[in-house]
Amino acid sequence: MSLPSAPVLQALKKSASTMANRNTPFVYNEWYVAAFGSEVTRELLPRTLLDKRVVLFRTEGGEPVALSDRCAHRAYPLSLGALEGDTLVCGYHGFRFNTEGDCIEVPSAAKCPKGIGVARYAVLERGPLVWIWMGDPDQADESRLPEQEWLSASDWEKSSGYFDLQSNYVSMHENLLDLTHLSYLHANTFGTPDYAKAAFKSEVGDGHFVLYRDVVPTTLPPLWAKPTGLEGCTTAARIVKSEFKSPAFHQVSVRFYDNALPEEQRTVSQIRTAHILTPQTHSTCHYFIVHGRDFGQDDDSITQFMHENLFEAFNEDVDGMAALEQVWQTTDPDEMYEFSVGADGPSVAMRRYLKQRADDESAARDTLLAAAPRVVPIRGTETA
Ligand code: FES
Ligand SMILES: [Fe+2]
Repeated sequence: MSLPSAPVLQALKKSASTMANRNTPFVYNEWYVAAFGSEVTRELLPRTLLDKRVVLFRTEGGEPVALSDRCAHRAYPLSLGALEGDTLVCGYHGFRFNTEGDCIEVPSAAKCPKGIGVARYAVLERGPLVWIWMGDPDQADESRLPEQEWLSASDWEKSSGYFDLQSNYVSMHENLLDLTHLSYLHANTFGTPDYAKAAFKSEVGDGHFVLYRDVVPTTLPPLWAKPTGLEGCTTAARIVKSEFKSPAFHQVSVRFYDNALPEEQRTVSQIRTAHILTPQTHSTCHYFIVHGRDFGQDDDSITQFMHENLFEAFNEDVDGMAALEQVWQTTDPDEMYEFSVGADGPSVAMRRYLKQRADDESAARDTLLAAAPRVVPIRGTETA
């Protein structure tokens, strides 16, 4: 195999320039998951989200709060300060901030100067997740949360986990929308040889990308065969829907049953996995996962078996995306190219969408600046 010729390389680069990659600016005007609700407590939680330092905590009444983790005075991390009631006191010179991010006390000044503050980000707690809006505050509308009611529903037995992904978030979104990799990257866990060749359909909409893949008949890997009671079945059906719901949220839904049985005699077992991606930096990503099933709800041994095996499989993606990230980081950009094939259609469309969203936000730079931390000159501060 030879390298692409200069004209082919040029065409590939032109095509790639319309797709998001690790260098594309983040899309800020979206809800992202800042943390599992269980992580947000009365202890200050520092977290880098979309390249911004954020500190999270709960009020005494239990409400989650997110502020810029950068004091308005001399930029000391507020997360190194202390919570006193519902106020946060900076650990450097003691400036005190309320939950709106307003400075309400400067110990060295008899009267607190007006107008000092740090950014407060809108947060919403839904089910096990705390969502954050880091873009234009005027667009922080709850209706823009991706649909995820099942995460709070009692008829889905759930387990959750987290990976500190050493990769940009675009590569991981592409991984989730491209299931042909199951036969290879996951050959030892939940992939089977027939998976990559199975017929697929896709839906490509504005901001909504879906890949359907029916693997029928198939023999399920132990991870799925054992809990669904389909061990030894060579006529199993594995009906997969992989869905990009937002730049922050991807859902995989799968149905399993014995395809040899008449429809009315089938026991259909369903699983769902929420793959929740929040860029940390351009080369790292918070990867929250919630996995659910609608069968065997009372059997903890199934939960444990599936959790252990699934997270082993997800770790293959985590390692794989870290390896991919290293290639991007260490390759001369002039030599970098990607060939797309037919099965990449949905993920190429998704990457074009992310690029367009980023370009649109860049064009509306003034809106982004309005959401930046409110740093104002200190006037009238008395010197000690
Ligand atoms: S840096 Fe926070 S009070 Fe001075
Ligand atoms: Fe994967």
